[in-house]
Amino acid sequence: MSHSPATASGKSPWTLARRAARMNPSVIREILKVTEKPGIISFAGGLPSPKTFPVTEFAAACTHVLRDDAHAALQYASSEGYAPLREMVARSLPWDVNPDLVLITTGSQQGLDLLAKVLIDADSRVLVETPTYLGALQAFTPMEPAIVSVDSDDQGLQIADLQAKCAAGSAPRFLYVLPNFQNPTGRTMGEARRQALVQSAAALGLPIVEDNPYGDLWFDQPPPLPLTARNPVGCIYLGSFSKVLAPGLRLGFLVAPAAVYPKLLQAKQAADLHSPGFNQRMIVDVMKHGFLDRHVPTIRALYKSQRDAMLAALAREMPHTDEADPDNRVTWNTPEGGMFLWLRLPRGMDAVALLPKAVDKGVAFVPGVPFFADQPDPRCLRLSFVTASVADIDRGIATLATAVRESLPVPA
Ligand SMILES: Cc1ncc(COP(=O)(O)O)c(C=O)c1O
Repeated sequence: MSHSPATASGKSPWTLARRAARMNPSVIREILKVTEKPGIISFAGGLPSPKTFPVTEFAAACTHVLRDDAHAALQYASSEGYAPLREMVARSLPWDVNPDLVLITTGSQQGLDLLAKVLIDADSRVLVETPTYLGALQAFTPMEPAIVSVDSDDQGLQIADLQAKCAAGSAPRFLYVLPNFQNPTGRTMGEARRQALVQSAAALGLPIVEDNPYGDLWFDQPPPLPLTARNPVGCIYLGSFSKVLAPGLRLGFLVAPAAVYPKLLQAKQAADLHSPGFNQRMIVDVMKHGFLDRHVPTIRALYKSQRDAMLAALAREMPHTDEADPDNRVTWNTPEGGMFLWLRLPRGMDAVALLPKAVDKGVAFVPGVPFFADQPDPRCLRLSFVTASVADIDRGIATLATAVRESLPVPA
């Protein structure tokens, strides 16, 4: 079949919006394509372990929903979400949450997109940690904000720099922050920093968007109370079922103050009318009778054993360069939960340049650069410890260490 040209000149008739120019392919997805070679041990993905998906429970839930509630489950539904799920979410959170202020979203990623539409104008200032979740940068960027990176350490963002950045321009629309087992660094904000942050934000009149998809995946002790619990009117809270049940259902939620909720709901109506009612009912069916209380500890135990394996392998395999000079060593943190570990290469090395060499040898990771809104640290990289087996963690880290050793500016 032949098609006539769209225009007489043969040129494309489509003019893209200005915001489309700011949309970039996810760097991580591009990287993952390189790493999808057979036989590669990948620490690159951000995926939960499929071993944790409760398949049997989902099969039973699917049968129950179709048997007991098929017509409603397959019909259009309210944009706010399925009421029993909103109530379950409200009850599960450690502060007094009104279910009317819970919005069920199509993954917490949609929550970020809705927030961007409702809260960001062109040139609005938005504050983020250094580094931060790439998917949030992708959601915010099309709205043409000025994204401002706040200096951060192993406890998260530094309050003095937050105050300085707030004072250095127009009032930021919000601060986006991940206090628990952050993606990409795996770090956790301690109690003192949380208190200081909530106090400073209140004094500055700075709203907080708190993203918490990993908070339940702690290894030894639960993280401190969420920021939102300390100031519900000044915070919007995002949660997800992706890491405790399964990401394929695409369900998450947000809790917003009454001043913002109606606009987020309208943005949600425009985006997709509602999140799938069938999936929402499946989740309610699976979660009834305290299933998560039994299931989540099994995920914690699995991920903790994999984290321990990775820490042991790193200590065993990574080159010991200059013990006296910390800047000339491979360093990494010890995440207290979640899925990721953050590694820093010795002075003079570059994680983007290391990646193809590592992939050639059979191991993949994500360079840290795309997670920085500003001034990337080229020496950093993210390692996921949850999808590879312990045997593959051992082999993969040994291979990565060989690639590092061969790329050292001064061979160890
Ligand atoms: C920090 C953070 N926020 C949000 C999301 C999106 O999760 P979902 O849309 O699956 O709920 C992710 C996914 O990896 C994430 O790491």
